[in-house]
Amino acid sequence: MKKYFIFFFIFLFISGVAYSQDNETIKTIKNRKSVRHFTGDVVSKDDLKKILEAGMCAPTAVNKQPWNFIAVTDRKILDELADKLPSAKMLFQAGAAIIICALPEKAYNNLTEFAIIDCSLAGENILLAVESLGLGGIWTAAYPDNDRMNTVRKILNIPDNIIPLCVMPIGKPTGEDKPKEKFDEKNIHWDKW
Ligand SMILES: Cc1cc2nc3c(=O)[nH]c(=O)nc-3n(C[C@H](O)[C@H](O)[C@H](O)COP(=O)(O)O)c2cc1C
Repeated sequence: MKKYFIFFFIFLFISGVAYSQDNETIKTIKNRKSVRHFTGDVVSKDDLKKILEAGMCAPTAVNKQPWNFIAVTDRKILDELADKLPSAKMLFQAGAAIIICALPEKAYNNLTEFAIIDCSLAGENILLAVESLGLGGIWTAAYPDNDRMNTVRKILNIPDNIIPLCVMPIGKPTGEDKPKEKFDEKNIHWDKW
């Protein structure tokens, strides 16, 4: 029995050392998780600005930055989005939402694909900034579902040529959602496939 305790403590020590070797950025990346449970607290505009600034730091093809962002804090609009979007019910408890809008006409070679890729990179930056501020967030899909995109366009007055890529509920997490272990050595190829 004593032997098992010793092994257990050695395991705890090694995993503790491995974790503490991660720098702050890697820790934030590893702690990010989709948050679906919020306390209902509001999110400040200062925090939303910091989050959007991080979003706009993302790389884009030929630096075109083919995006706009809608930050929603109005309770009525959050509730309307929650009501009309089947996958974004967590907006009822979230304090804010960010809608990433892709602008194909601003993207490299006017390609929708580049607009989607560029805006998706902004999306991960946003989720990481949210995590780093002690908040929680989640990507809920609008694109490529036409019904969902049109619902978002209608509620938020978005023109038809703009793609509402996703609706991201953001808020104070209850702590129920945890990061998933995803690392799998088998997914890595060294030098060649
Ligand atoms: C393109 C995309 C679309 C997603 N759409 C939804 C969605 O509509 N509803 C939802 O609850 N989660 C959605 N998610 C979140 C994923 O379910 C989540 O990222 C995945 O389960 C992995 O969990 P993690 O984010 O906690 O690592 C989406 C994520 C991505 C990247």
